[in-house]
Amino acid sequence: MEEIVRCKIVKIPLFGEDRIGYVSVAEFGSIVPFPIERVYWIYQTPADIVRGQHAHIELRQILVAISGTINIKCEYLDGSIEEFLLDHPSKGLYVPQMVWRFINFSYQAVMICIASEKYSEMDYIRDYSKFEKLRATFMMTAH
Ligand code: TYD
Repeated sequence: MEEIVRCKIVKIPLFGEDRIGYVSVAEFGSIVPFPIERVYWIYQTPADIVRGQHAHIELRQILVAISGTINIKCEYLDGSIEEFLLDHPSKGLYVPQMVWRFINFSYQAVMICIASEKYSEMDYIRDYSKFEKLRATFMMTAH
C-alpha cells in the first residue's frame, strides 16, 4: 500500500418526518462504494468493552449506529489516529483497508456493518505487533 486511505463520514439519505418515522437506505453505487457481500450487526455490547482491535487486509466497510451511539477510534499505518462518533442512523463511517479500530458502544447501541467481502478470518490482522511491523515497513517505503 503506497498511500494512506482515511476513514470518512458518509451521509446516508433519510426519508420521512417525526410524525411517521424515518427510513434510511444505503445502496451500492451511490452510498456504498463496493458491491455488498455481507451485512452483520453487533448488539448488547456493554459500555466498558472495547470491540474491534483488529485491522483488515482487503475488507472495506460502512458502519452505522442504527441505535445508540458508537465511538470509533481509527489508527492508520502512518501512526495517525482519528476518532469518529456515530450518533444517528443516517450517519455512516466508511472504513477502508488497514485501519486498526477500537470500538466503544453506548448502552443498547446496535451497529450494522455493510461489508465488501464475505467473512474470512485470513483477512484479519488481530495481532497489534503485526500491525506495528506493517506500519514500520510502510514508513520505510513511504519516505
Ligand atoms: P469480530 O469481527 O472479531 O468482532 P469485533 O471486531 O466486533 O470484536 O467477530 C467476533 C467473532 O464472530 C469472531 O469469532 C468471528 C465471528 N464472526 C463470524 O464468524 N462471521 C462474521 O461475519 C463476523 C463479523 C464475525
